[in-house]
Amino acid sequence: MLTTNSKNIPSIIIVVIALGAILAGGFALVGGFDIKNANHRQNNSAANEGAKTKAVQPVTECYESRETYGAVTRIENVVPQYGYPNIKCSKTTAGVLWYGDPFDGTIPMGTMPEINDSTHGDFTNAVVRPREPHLTYFNMGPNGCVTCHDGKTVPFPKDKKPRLITMHTDIVADSTQLKHGRGAMWCLDCHSATNRNKLVDRQGNEISFNQPQRLCGTCHGNVYIDWRAGIHGKRIGTWAVGGKKRWWVCTECHNPHTVQVNRFDQIKAESPPPLPRGMTSANYE
Ligand code: HEC
Ligand code: HEC
Ligand code: HEC
Ligand code: HEC
Repeated sequence: MLTTNSKNIPSIIIVVIALGAILAGGFALVGGFDIKNANHRQNNSAANEGAKTKAVQPVTECYESRETYGAVTRIENVVPQYGYPNIKCSKTTAGVLWYGDPFDGTIPMGTMPEINDSTHGDFTNAVVRPREPHLTYFNMGPNGCVTCHDGKTVPFPKDKKPRLITMHTDIVADSTQLKHGRGAMWCLDCHSATNRNKLVDRQGNEISFNQPQRLCGTCHGNVYIDWRAGIHGKRIGTWAVGGKKRWWVCTECHNPHTVQVNRFDQIKAESPPPLPRGMTSANYE
């Protein structure tokens, strides 16, 4: 890792990006405390002014809209127990000024296979964003992929030989030309033949879609070791041992069906923050 041939330079860039993300996380925490203190000060000054002026109510809630413009959810912001350190509300409109908690919707990462690399790692409080909610075909029926792949509606494949499939052409345009592994592998090297809700490694172990690293790592061992140590990809959180850390999983950056053409597909941008209540144009100045 610490040699200086050109192949490693990008890894170093990734380290820098990762450090940046960690620093940003730190600022978010500091910001959270500021909000609390600001409200505290506001309370005191209101009390000092006595009964003459009406006590200014600290803003304890604000609203955000992530799905569509019309769907607004209430967010608690000054109560530390809710754990949203990077949400700050406008004191006048209650619109969210600063939001996007990177720990939102995360779940425990699950077991991390150890590799004899002397990094035992610190995974007591490791979290990831689950992938299952993002998969179109997983969410088409009540049983995930098995809704169709139950052995009857869609029969289980007879063998692992590549063949032309007429379905999922939005995911893999031509299943006889899978753009991963230069022709050496096919769908069923990664997807279980009989339990389509799971990925599968070469030993036949079933792996959740939420832990793709356990699949990718069996072939890309070097990258996996780097990723596990927080060098490849992205990780944020606290430095402290046992502190909460979020890892971005492999498929949040790489599309396993197209890597040979694009190492990355374009990621859909997050929706813009909503306009504060009462505003009709962002161009208010
Ligand atoms: C709406 C029904 C439907 C759903 C839901 C569905 N599939 Fe399929 N899938 C099919 C059909 C039909 C085929 C076979 C097409 C053919 O043989 O030409 C297929 C084929 C496949 C194949 C090729 C191997 C095989 O079994 O023939 C893979 C891999 C696959 N699907 C993965 C998935 C995964 C992963 C999910 C869930 C994330 C999923 N599918 C959800 C209908 C579905
Ligand atoms: C290198 C391993 C690998 C191979 C080979 C592979 N897949 Fe996948 N596939 C995955 C992973 C991992 C996911 C979950 C992707 C994510 O989290 O975004 C997935 C997801 C899918 C999905 C669900 C996508 C969605 O958004 O609903 C379908 C359908 C699918 N694969 C079909 C196929 C078919 C068909 C083939 C063969 C032509 C194939 N896959 C080959 C690893 C693989
Ligand atoms: C069964 C083994 C296997 C699995 C599992 C596997 N890969 Fe691969 N992967 C390969 C092979 C082989 C290549 C082609 C290497 C080459 O061209 O030199 C490749 C190529 C790649 C590349 C392109 C490398 C480059 O130099 O441009 C990326 C990115 C990648 N894989 C990511 C993943 C991710 C993410 C997963 C898990 C979803 C995964 N792979 C799972 C075998 C695998
Ligand atoms: C935050 C985004 C991100 C995540 C998460 C991520 N990668 Fe990457 N990956 C990259 C970038 C950026 C590069 C390109 C670096 C370069 O050009 O050498 C890359 C390159 C690669 C390559 C090709 C270059 C090489 O070093 O062999 C493979 C293979 C790969 N990643 C696999 C994985 C696997 C496996 C995982 C999960 C364990 C993973 N990646 C997680 C961003 C990511």
